[in-house]
Amino acid sequence: MGFNKDRFLLTWVVLFFFWVSATALLSPKGVNFEVQALMGIKEFLDDPHGVLDNWDEAAVDPCSWNMVTCSLDGLVISLGAPSQNLSGTLAPSFGNLTNLQLVLLQNNNISGHIQK
Ligand SMILES: *[C@@H]1O[C@H](CO)[C@@H](O)[C@H](O)[C@H]1NC(C)=O
Ligand SMILES: *[C@@H]1O[C@H](CO)[C@@H](O)[C@H](O)[C@H]1NC(C)=O
Ligand SMILES: *[C@@H]1O[C@H](CO)[C@@H](O)[C@H](O)[C@H]1NC(C)=O
Repeated sequence: MGFNKDRFLLTWVVLFFFWVSATALLSPKGVNFEVQALMGIKEFLDDPHGVLDNWDEAAVDPCSWNMVTCSLDGLVISLGAPSQNLSGTLAPSFGNLTNLQLVLLQNNNISGHIQK
């Protein structure tokens, strides 16, 4: 009796772990919202010197990108691209970078304002 009950329980535990690992594999790849926001910004800018060339939509996070600084827990806290001859407008997705503390974009040719 006790033996059967234990086996029954074990079967469920094993099935549960299969289910958990299958779900983990099948779930869509997490999208980093700061990668999305920064790619939006890049789309709105003309970048004649390619300073934003290593901004990559497929990146797990934007922490190794030019001009981008992250906090220790991987949130974008600064965007610094002064005097890079960037032109264009500030993308609406700029407002999605909710962890920004410092933005240095002076001496470029960027217009528009930050929409929250
Ligand atoms: C920006 O463009 C101007 C004029 O095209 C050029 O003189 C200047 O060197 C450029 N600045 C940088 C940082 O590339
Ligand atoms: C600034 O950008 C606008 C287009 O966004 C362009 O027409 C203008 O010539 C640029 N000015 C300079 C100084 O590069
Ligand atoms: C801001 O982020 C949200 C959630 O990821 C997204 O649905 C929305 O389109 C973004 N807004 C802009 C202007 O990119």
